[in-house]
Amino acid sequence: MNLHRSLDAVEAAQACATHILLTLQRAISLRGTATLAISGGSSPRMMFEIFARTAFPWDRVHLFWVDERVVPPTDPQSNFKLASDAWLQPAQFPAANIHRVEAELGAEPAARLYRAAIRGYFGLDGASTEHPRFDVIHRGMGPDGHTASLFPGDPIVENRDGVAAAVWVEKMHQWRVTLLRGTLEAARNTAMLVTGRDKTDTLKTVLEGEFDPGHYPAQIASLGESGDWFVDREASETLAGL
Ligand code: 6PG
Repeated sequence: MNLHRSLDAVEAAQACATHILLTLQRAISLRGTATLAISGGSSPRMMFEIFARTAFPWDRVHLFWVDERVVPPTDPQSNFKLASDAWLQPAQFPAANIHRVEAELGAEPAARLYRAAIRGYFGLDGASTEHPRFDVIHRGMGPDGHTASLFPGDPIVENRDGVAAAVWVEKMHQWRVTLLRGTLEAARNTAMLVTGRDKTDTLKTVLEGEFDPGHYPAQIASLGESGDWFVDREASETLAGL
């Protein structure tokens, strides 16, 4: 795991953006195209705005979502809307490369279509143990240790076979569609962007405590060599050795 510590949330977003773009660039050099899955919430907005300001061959990047709230794409809670407003529209990101969760169809149909879209894009034959290898999966972490829409204590965290699924998130009283653990674990690179004082205690446990992804889903696929954490001073101030 590589820890990148910034002074504040702006610097952390910049560092994470730079890392993601370099990784995508490397993937494009190797394979011609790159795949990126992004998260929602509040912390990615600044990073998306940086993407919007950066000249990049977006026509070589295929974009997916780590998770989506089951609301229409015009809803302020929509993770697609966040990315679209802050990045995709201003950057004129090629529409054909946007693979969003069609959440307006309802949780199960949207999850079914999303799974099919991912399998189709990555050429997976539908066997349950096959997973897509995203070049980069960008994730956040909630103060409770959740990541994607995998929440502590939910048995779905143990599902390593599926690609993506609909999940009822009791804590949010909301249906979500989320990539599943096996897909997160298959990523070539995982970029965690975690900022703010409300994450401090959980970040310490996630990075320094025992491996217990059932209670701390943020530990999934983020603690090995392919995991990079971009944190600000507030979130990381109690980490050992700092
Ligand atoms: C979502 C997410 C979610 C998010 C964390 C952290 O749709 O809510 O994708 O997993 O990454 O909740 O969110 P913040 O960045 O807002 O703290």
